[in-house]
Amino acid sequence: MEICIVGAGYVGLTTAVCFAEMGNEVKIIDIDKEKIEKIKSGIAPIYEEGLQKLMEKNLDRIEATTSYSIEENIIFICVGTPSLPDGKINLKYVLDAAENVAKNMKEESIIVIKSTIFPGTTQKIVKPLIEKYGKKFSIAMNPEFLREGKAIYDFMNPDRIVIGIEDGKAENVLRKLYEPIKAPIIITTPTEAEMIKYASNALLATKISFANEIGNLCKILGIDVYKVMKGVGMDHRISPYFLDAGIGFGGSCFPKDLKALYVGSKELGYEMDLIKAVLELNDKQPLQVIKILEKYMDVNGKNIAVLGLAFKANTDDVRESRSIPIIEKLMEKGAIIKAYDPMAMENMKKFFPRIIYCKSVAEALENADACLILTDWKEFEKLDFSKMRNKLVIEGRKVLKSREGIIYEGVCW
Ligand SMILES: NC(=O)c1ccc[n+]([C@@H]2O[C@H](COP(=O)([O-])OP(=O)(O)OC[C@H]3O[C@@H](n4cnc5c(N)ncnc54)[C@H](O)[C@@H]3O)[C@@H](O)[C@H]2O)c1
Repeated sequence: MEICIVGAGYVGLTTAVCFAEMGNEVKIIDIDKEKIEKIKSGIAPIYEEGLQKLMEKNLDRIEATTSYSIEENIIFICVGTPSLPDGKINLKYVLDAAENVAKNMKEESIIVIKSTIFPGTTQKIVKPLIEKYGKKFSIAMNPEFLREGKAIYDFMNPDRIVIGIEDGKAENVLRKLYEPIKAPIIITTPTEAEMIKYASNALLATKISFANEIGNLCKILGIDVYKVMKGVGMDHRISPYFLDAGIGFGGSCFPKDLKALYVGSKELGYEMDLIKAVLELNDKQPLQVIKILEKYMDVNGKNIAVLGLAFKANTDDVRESRSIPIIEKLMEKGAIIKAYDPMAMENMKKFFPRIIYCKSVAEALENADACLILTDWKEFEKLDFSKMRNKLVIEGRKVLKSREGIIYEGVCW
């Protein structure tokens, strides 16, 4: 099949490369010239496990362009939906993309929204905008559930494929397109599909905040929240996933999607108290690390090694990373930050151009008065703390294999 993907970010590029791998001809459109040039020259503009190789393998089936010249009949919109200052999503990118698609698409196209948008948006806002251009089309909403760091695997092995449609034509085409993927397909309305995505993210984030809340109490009680949550997660009604206590959830999805759900529902006259509490706890959780650190020292003028900037391991993405509020607070208190991350330092420089970025863990730990571990990168499992001035190590994510020779604290264990 011939497919057009609008937006070459984590979702768009993964979708494009995976559809190409399934034998489809794929065109990628993005307004970011640099990204498109990289893709054209065979370089993945983002880091995702396996993406570079799979892209190279299928390069002859992938065309990348900044121009909206669309001959394909199936068009996926995968552009970003970041938060506005009030928490609602910024629909600008989706609407710009939809308008450009509407102007340039062929008659009888199928437009599939993959971006995460508030329930009702596809039918009430995107569809009427495209209709203004007078062409016949079908619209569908096909939310994406992939995790960054495991994007290719997740795309190819989803738990389910959700297809929100208004007519049988879109359903048939999308069923055929997804045929090579062995996963149950659930057919819904576009609004239900949008809500499935928000409700899934909200529930996963709630599990994390719940584990953190229990973890904060476990810390006071002097017991191990990981053992507690292991016991909790063995109940099949609960499942062991997303119960790792730590410094909270970050990334480009959970924080923004929960805010959008909360603000959007409030506009409809319903205040989601549970979602509000999940977000509030998540804002407070990273600061637990500072509280623990200040039990040991006044951080003013101290060298603090910050290991891990990405919002989680195996990605270079720092959006809403929990290391951001921690670094902000440390800077406010006059600490000298020596940061290291295997992948995410370039991206973090946009947030903190003036902290010290180290080439290695060893450089960050040299003469450090304390070390904070904020991302669960595998390379942090075994660390040599011998060059630290003071051997205080605080873990925000549980990753260390040994705690020998250090003064150790876990954020909530
Ligand atoms: N990142 C994830 O893990 C993930 C998972 C599931 C769903 N989602 C959702 O998928 C959507 C995309 O997320 P992402 O992380 O891939 O975003 P991203 O920021 O990585 O990429 C978005 C891309 O869209 C491009 N773009 C913006 N406006 C455009 C336009 N008018 N025409 C063409 N290209 C345009 C940008 O240049 C950028 O390359 C969001 O709604 C997000 O919530 C993301």
